[in-house]
Amino acid sequence: MSYLSLDEEQAIIELRPMSGFVETSYVKQFVRRALNYIKAGIPVHFRGPTGSGKTTLALHVASKLKKPVVLMHGDDEYKTSDLVGGEHGYRYRYLKDNFIASVLKVEQDMAKQWMDNRLTIACKYGYTLIYDEFTRSRPEANNILLSILQEKVMDLPAQRQGDEAHYLKVHPNFCVIFTSNPEEYAGTHKAQDALRDRMVTIDVNHFDRNTEVAITQAKSGLSQKNTEKIVDVVRGMRTSNPCEFPPTIRSCVTLAKAIAVSKAKVSAKNPIFQELVQDILVSQTTRSPWSPRRKEIENLVRSLIKKYC
Ligand SMILES: Nc1ncnc2c1ncn2[C@@H]1O[C@H](COP(=O)(O)OP(=O)(O)OP(=O)(O)O)[C@@H](O)[C@H]1O
Ligand SMILES: [Mg+2]
Repeated sequence: MSYLSLDEEQAIIELRPMSGFVETSYVKQFVRRALNYIKAGIPVHFRGPTGSGKTTLALHVASKLKKPVVLMHGDDEYKTSDLVGGEHGYRYRYLKDNFIASVLKVEQDMAKQWMDNRLTIACKYGYTLIYDEFTRSRPEANNILLSILQEKVMDLPAQRQGDEAHYLKVHPNFCVIFTSNPEEYAGTHKAQDALRDRMVTIDVNHFDRNTEVAITQAKSGLSQKNTEKIVDVVRGMRTSNPCEFPPTIRSCVTLAKAIAVSKAKVSAKNPIFQELVQDILVSQTTRSPWSPRRKEIENLVRSLIKKYC
């Protein structure tokens, strides 16, 4: 029999293999590298541009570790207490009997009580922590991670009850997968050197062609041949200069889904297809409707359609 607070339960995710997850040799090799570091007790960090598959890969790698997962998203507003925990006015607890499933007793009290937040829960029970976009939190909020990753202890505020030393020994099974966008992205902070030094950073770039085709096809249901044409147009845009934002795998999927729904023929001669591609790819790769490069990008899309479709 065990006491679990409802909040602890809500913080935990039991990951099952994702339906529709595409595992090409590129993906398998990436996952193998990451798992190797994690098994050696080293936190991993997937760093890459938007849409490079970081979060999906983090969830997939975590699912391979076969233990509960705690997910946190970096936020500029976070303070250390948002990660660790704080005092709250009331608390629900329920008594769960592991042997008699029907036994469930709910207790409620109004006293100020310490409530562990996600980081503390993961450290205490040895869960996998996915800290997605961790550089969106300010470095001061993330300082708590330094001793967790190095000395394997967590400093706890004095208010936390039931812990005389105000330290929590980090469970040996605890592990972390970080993700981030490169530092020059809007809304990200520079991670402190000491934190970066405590993890292995694996740079994630756009997927190889084979993987992009497989993901786009799995998500849209388009034929292999038509999917390849779309992926080639998107990849052609990425390697050309005028785009302000390179199109991502999301652009491939959005375009393929729109084509599948409209049943538009994937052909340079089809004006509906031309219109769909212009709508989706031009808007996703320009900063504003008045972008000085807009005309250039529209012409680029036209020439790529001609080349591949
Ligand atoms: N292996 C995969 N199998 C199936 N779909 C995938 C795979 N990898 C990525 N995707 C899909 O590609 C898209 C982008 O992936 P994801 O959201 O993980 O990227 P990201 O790098 O975390 O982007 P952002 O920086 O914007 O958060 C998503 O729609 C996701 O479902
Ligand atoms: Mg993401």
